[in-house]
Amino acid sequence: AAKVRTHHLQAAKRAGEKFAMLTAYDQYTAQIFDEAGIEVLLVGDSASNNVLGNETSLPITLDEMIVFSRAVTAGAKRALVVADLPFGSYEQSPEQAIASSVRLMKEGLVHAVKMEGGAYYAPTVRALTQAGIPVMAHIGFTPQAEHVLGGYRVQGRGEFAQTMIDDAVALVDAGAFAVLMEMVPADTAAAVDAAIAVPTVGIGAGNTTTGQVLVWQDMAGLRTGKMAKFVKQYAQMRTILADAAREYGEEVRSGVFPGPEHTF
Ligand code: KIV
Ligand code: NA
Repeated sequence: AAKVRTHHLQAAKRAGEKFAMLTAYDQYTAQIFDEAGIEVLLVGDSASNNVLGNETSLPITLDEMIVFSRAVTAGAKRALVVADLPFGSYEQSPEQAIASSVRLMKEGLVHAVKMEGGAYYAPTVRALTQAGIPVMAHIGFTPQAEHVLGGYRVQGRGEFAQTMIDDAVALVDAGAFAVLMEMVPADTAAAVDAAIAVPTVGIGAGNTTTGQVLVWQDMAGLRTGKMAKFVKQYAQMRTILADAAREYGEEVRSGVFPGPEHTF
């Protein structure tokens, strides 16, 4: 199948069709999700929590993001691969954002970047787009700013809906090819979607966005602990892996494995 490009996602919005996005951080998950038809793979800075074991997304570095990006692009054949600009890699200036994004594209081989932030970052989005770097904007709850936002909280309620619309419009005017919204009331997300011509992607933003995204370990049940309200688990990978490891351990200890068929 033909490679997914940003114009295909924009055509989906115009046609009233939807697309799916999942995070991926390594070659096998990238391959599996790509072959399953997931249109967009996100090398999320959520790798900080979900792969590296940090408490937040803040500690992950650009160098680490490049390693994960390279693995995902090695596994993906068809999907559009988008990488997050991690905390500290773009805030200082459009020049810093370009330098970081060029590394993600040149060394990580991703096709686009995602950047957290509102209208304040419109000049950065414009500079990136002019430089040949497609940008997915990320508004609503932006995890890199959790210490300003006061933790994981729904954004854009009531009077703040208009600010979110204004942010989205400014980012799209600056060239953003899509706008991702995290933890936003469904009516606000619908108003943002109606105000812009480019596709929207939601996570905890209701069912009117063009696309949806989930963290794969949440979606596949690899992670335990408290799940956000917006997560749906489609598999129980943790149980499957735990059962496999337990059985392997028992067979090794009892001498059942390796059998004659595994022996030279
Ligand atoms: O890093 C991430 O996983 C994200 C989400 C929006 C899925 O940015
Ligand atoms: Na992210």
